[in-house]
Amino acid sequence: MHDRVTLPSDKAQRYASVRAEIAAVIAGEPNITARYATASSLLAQAFPDRFFWTGFYVVDPDKPNELVVGPYQGTLGCLRIPFGKGVCGACAAQRESIIVPDVHEFPGHIACDSRSNSEIVTPVFDKTGALVAVLDVDSTQFNAFDTTDQSGLEAICADLLTIA
Ligand code: SME
Repeated sequence: MHDRVTLPSDKAQRYASVRAEIAAVIAGEPNITARYATASSLLAQAFPDRFFWTGFYVVDPDKPNELVVGPYQGTLGCLRIPFGKGVCGACAAQRESIIVPDVHEFPGHIACDSRSNSEIVTPVFDKTGALVAVLDVDSTQFNAFDTTDQSGLEAICADLLTIA
């Protein structure tokens, strides 16, 4: 049984806390799906007020320019996103985090759930620097994400394929 420690109210501290928790759980686990599942679960629980959909789209090994849905927490997500399409596809193509304060103003945004109003997407790289996935977090609030979220999520993504 996994008992959660009290969540710090400061956002950066809360990211540091959940990062340490994810690192502790995935250490020694070689299966990457298990690692993505752990991160999506613990992140969604760490920010229940802002994180409406929290999960991974992974690069399909059979279609290297396409993302396919991976482990997530939230309502039904679309299954496949071509590189360049929507916020996730743009992040995969650009290999950089994207913060979208209002998804309705993002050209080509993919509305998997009409309740999502803002989002942040962060790339995940393997040890060689190859893009392997993106982490997508959607919120029902407008303008829910800032650079503290970006730093926190990028730090967690950097751990996912590098922690032994
Ligand atoms: N909003 C995303 C699509 C995925 S989901 O909403 C789960 C996008 O435009 O990339």
